[in-house]
Order: sequence, then C-alpha cells, then structure tokens
Amino acid sequence: MRLSERIRYVGVNDMSTDLFERQWPIPYGVSYNSYLVVDEKVALVDTAAADFGDKLIANIKAEIGDRPVDYLVVNHMEPDHSALQAMIRKEYPGCEIVTNAKAAAMIEGYYGITEGIKVVKEGESLPLGAVNLQFFMVPMVHWPETMVSWCGEEKTLFSGDAFGTFKAVPECVTDAESGTFDAFKDEMTRYYASIVGKYGAPVQAALKKLNGLEIKRICSTHGPVWENSIADVIALYDKLSRYEADHGVCLAFGSMYGNTKKAAEALAKSIENRGISCRIHDLTKENYSFALRDVFKYDTLILGSPTYNNGIFPPVRQLMEGVCDRAVKGHKFLSFGSFTWAAASVKLLDEMAASAGFEILAPGTTFKQGYSEAKFDADALASLL
Ligand code: FEO
Repeated sequence: MRLSERIRYVGVNDMSTDLFERQWPIPYGVSYNSYLVVDEKVALVDTAAADFGDKLIANIKAEIGDRPVDYLVVNHMEPDHSALQAMIRKEYPGCEIVTNAKAAAMIEGYYGITEGIKVVKEGESLPLGAVNLQFFMVPMVHWPETMVSWCGEEKTLFSGDAFGTFKAVPECVTDAESGTFDAFKDEMTRYYASIVGKYGAPVQAALKKLNGLEIKRICSTHGPVWENSIADVIALYDKLSRYEADHGVCLAFGSMYGNTKKAAEALAKSIENRGISCRIHDLTKENYSFALRDVFKYDTLILGSPTYNNGIFPPVRQLMEGVCDRAVKGHKFLSFGSFTWAAASVKLLDEMAASAGFEILAPGTTFKQGYSEAKFDADALASLL
C-alpha cells in the first residue's frame, strides 16, 4: 500500500487473536503496522507479531519485488513488533538492524542476535538516499527502549505504539474517510488506558520533544495511518497523558446476587436524570479495560462492590488495582455496595482511592443484605456530583 512514492504500508491485520497481551479483548481486531521507506536504500520500520511472518514478507515483496531490505529500524522491542527480526534477517541476510543501545541489548536477550546491529543515539540520522531517518528517544512510551523515527523530507513520524489503537486498520489504511478518528476514538482511549496509561509523564515528555516537528503523517504501530486527524490524535494523547477528563462518571460494579447491581442501576439513573454523562460497567461480564477506558474519559469514578471474604469483590478489586497502577490523577471517587453480616468493601475501596490521590466525595455507602430504595438513596449520592 503506497502512502507516498517512498513510504509504503506493509503491516497486517490480526482478526483471530482474542486477547491482546493475553489480557485485553480485541473484538474489532488489531493491526501490527510495518512500513517501508523506499529510496536508494530500503528501510523496514518494525516488523509484526510472530504468526504473521509469511504475510509480512509477501507484503514487502509486493512493494519492492526482489530488491533487498537494507535496514530494519527497531523502534520498539515488544514482541508484537519485534518477533520477526530473525525471519527478516534470514530473508535479507545483508539487512542491518538500526536501533538504540537499550533495544540492542533486548534484541540479544530475546532473539540472540548480536551481529549487524547499528546503534544510534538521540538525534542521529540514517541517510537512505534522497531522504533520511532521524531518531528520537522516547523512553517509557511505554518501554524503556522506545524511540521514534522521523523522515523530515516526507514529514512522516514513525511513532511506535504512540498514537496507536486497538481495531484493525481500514481497507484504505489511512484516515482518509471522514469519521475515522471518531470511529477509533473509544478503542484508542482503551488502548491508551490499558497499555500506556501508567506513563503519563513520559508521554508528556515525548510530546514536548516532538512538538517542533511539522508532522504530515503519523505512522503508528497499531491502527490507521493518521494524515487528516493529526491534531485530534495528538490532542487526545496530550489530554489522556495529563489525566484530564470530561465531567462525567464511570460507574463500575460487581454483584453476586443482584443487590449491588440494583443499586448501581438506580444510581446510574439518578446521575443521568441530572444530565451528567454516565457509563455503567458490570465487571462480572466484561473485561476491566472497558471501564479503565472510561476512568480516563470521565472525571469521577464510582465503584460498587459487595463485601466478599471481608474484602472487596475480586472483579472490582482488579479494576481498582488497575486504576491505582496507572496513577490516575485529579479524579473524584465514590463507593457503594451491599454486605450480609459485616461491611468492609467500601471502606477498603475508599482507602485505596485516597492513597491513589482521588478526592473522596463522601464515605462509601453500604446497605445490609437485600437492596431497596429505602436502604440506598441513589439521589443523595448523585447530588454529590
Ligand atoms: Fe505494540 Fe508495546 O507493543
């Protein structure tokens, strides 16, 4: 797929994997994006996941025929992009790997490759003929070795996972069709929240470093090539990495016998009646990444959990631990839930939220055994928002 005379897309869509990193559902698939820069020399930027070697090689050959790949640029070493390095080397024995020192150590650690590696430093350039690739280190976006590659002549940024998203690339690969960014925004937010969300400060540092570039095209490792929505995708990453959120509620709950669920539904209705956006998540039915997405989207998190083993119901605890891991900042918090003989869940949730820096709007609301409107005043809780 030609993005320009010199920049070609040779990535693949994965519609068969059920869980990305064996933990995140990908109901709309995911892409592993690789790119060729075709000049006097040919550079391949990143590879793909292990199962897609034949497809990647076929895509490369469809673009350059029997020409060799001279360089393999490694922006990121997570195996969804690095797994095919040895295969590329076998197909193109003269191919030199171009990467930074941290990634070079990982290449040896993962794949035992030590020869034919050119180590580059911050700002160094690789001439390919008429165009060059320049390398900028963006550590912890989201691994320590991450870097981006900039082709100034094409105003194209090969950004690694940054600006990536779940959901397979559209047929046209780019965001040429109107509405593409909106169609990907939720999955991009879920990708960010799940995978990059812990690293807000490094993302901010990377955005500052790249701020002076006049970017015409963002070639991420996942999702569409951004050409028409560059301001939107950068603004979304900036907002997410500052933990800035819209006014609204992520209301997530777990329920064993339906009492905390009834309270959650009553609360969601009261919140919506006040004109406040509210997305509700049953953590016993869906992966917690969908709620994590909305933790990043909205400024208030409300968690409902019954007391279980004198603690927090495990599916709710998993989300709360995920939120704490990601050091979400500047958000507000409420908890509620049922108990049978001793109330513990809301107190523990409030303690976790307070330790994580949430503003606790009120101590957790709890009720004994069966739900009723008399025991659980949803309107009173919603009035705190
Ligand atoms: Fe898509 Fe961090 O690898």
